[in-house]
Amino acid sequence: MNNELILILDFGGQYNQLIARRVRECNVYSEVVPFDISLEKIKEKNPKGIIFTGGPASVFGEDSPKCTDGIFDLGIPVLGICYGMQLMTYTLGGNVARATKREYGTTTVEIDNTSSLFQGFDTTNGFLMSHTDYVEKVPDGFKNIGHTPSCPNAAIENTEKKLYGIQFHPEVNNSVNGTQVIKNFLFNICNCKGDWIISSFVEDSIKKLKEKIGDKKALCALSGGVDSSVAAVLLSKAIGKNLTCIFVDHGLLRKNEGDEVEEIFRNQFDINLIRVNSKDRFLAKLAGITDPEKKRKIIGEEFIRVFEEEAKKIGTADFLVQGTIYPDVIESGLGKSSVIKSHHNVGGLPDYVDFKEIVEPLRDLFKDEVRKTGLELGIPENLVYRQPFPGPGLAIRVIGDITDDKLTILKEADSIFREEIANAGLHKSINQYFAVLTNLKSVGVMGDERTYDYTIALRAVETTDFMTGVWSKIPYEILEKVSSRIVNEVEHVNRVVYDITSKPPATIEWE
Ligand code: XMP
Repeated sequence: MNNELILILDFGGQYNQLIARRVRECNVYSEVVPFDISLEKIKEKNPKGIIFTGGPASVFGEDSPKCTDGIFDLGIPVLGICYGMQLMTYTLGGNVARATKREYGTTTVEIDNTSSLFQGFDTTNGFLMSHTDYVEKVPDGFKNIGHTPSCPNAAIENTEKKLYGIQFHPEVNNSVNGTQVIKNFLFNICNCKGDWIISSFVEDSIKKLKEKIGDKKALCALSGGVDSSVAAVLLSKAIGKNLTCIFVDHGLLRKNEGDEVEEIFRNQFDINLIRVNSKDRFLAKLAGITDPEKKRKIIGEEFIRVFEEEAKKIGTADFLVQGTIYPDVIESGLGKSSVIKSHHNVGGLPDYVDFKEIVEPLRDLFKDEVRKTGLELGIPENLVYRQPFPGPGLAIRVIGDITDDKLTILKEADSIFREEIANAGLHKSINQYFAVLTNLKSVGVMGDERTYDYTIALRAVETTDFMTGVWSKIPYEILEKVSSRIVNEVEHVNRVVYDITSKPPATIEWE
């Protein structure tokens, strides 16, 4: 892809992806690889530098992960972080000891700012420490360049061999100026240039895809989500009309969303697009189903059936395009090729769709890089920054059984909520927000008439990882406006409630 590469050897630490991202934020391409990568493989990859991550193990453990012999003699700069530093010390003949007490939290580290690693730093700096073992005696040829009251060797260096170790975690936000430590390693020690930018990634990918696919045919399942959209546009820039996108519109997307997807792909990008309007088919399968997991399963399976039928009409495709991104690859097992990403998180594409090879043009990118790629390709910002939307769509936001009428109510209410959030400028700070059609009817009064209609619940959460999250404290005036617009503008809704539960204990979705 490019000449400059930093290899990140994964020793099982929880921040490994973050290290890779920090390096890339410095415009240097990085790859996370298994800790036991062979010397041959490293030489083949020819990295400018190597980073050992932290990890939960202790060098004293029998099964603790060890690096390949000879890695420190390659002449390639190495930065060991936490366990990585201890391993470097242990392997090169220094002493690692076990402290009686774990050191955890942001700690003031006194550093030697004449070291290239700490160029531009004050002599004291707050870094996140999280360890029990520590380096008691540095290996021959190394010198101490940092300590804390309870850790005598918080940073060490061997300038001749370009080997560096730090006990703290520079990759996390709690480490003030932590990224600068990484930058210093990249630019002062590894002599990187920092020329990895998204525009060169895009240019390079298009060229490579052209070479790989030539004038053969490729097929892509388009969901309207960010990853598959960016993958499709990238492919279409490379092979034009030899790409066919199949957009299975299950009728469970948000208001106007299906049309927006069609407009962008057909008109703006002139992509060969087959939109399959299959709402009736999905609703028929979902009729009377109330169990959320059953809904998910039915939608996943039906999606595959529809895709498969359309793919068969086209005939043989040489390539199947997948929107797999780097976290999927890392999570699915390092070094192994990723399994086919299941569409809509259920099922998976059928193995009897006739294609020869999978192309995953985004498999080296993190989500924020996928978004940047999308913008670089000219995909509208509102699609690129779209909030996450579950594969089963509104089916899991209509509580209980799903009907066309209920979907219409929900689409209208949800669209009002989203519009008001955008008007209030809150769409960037709230990470996911939507309406839910509860299965509850209650009594109301409109004009002189008694009503007995549905309750809409509003859900809005602030989160970075979607694993945990807090409910968003939307100002009352905005909630008031949303509520009054929904009951006035959406037929069959006479009550609006706001979900004030965080995750955990509640989930973000209601089903
Ligand atoms: P929960 O409800 O588990 O949601 O707190 C966490 C995130 O996952 C999304 N989500 C799904 N996404 N298929 C998807 O593609 C699903 O079945 C599904 N269920 C939940 C949810 O929107 C949130 O972003």
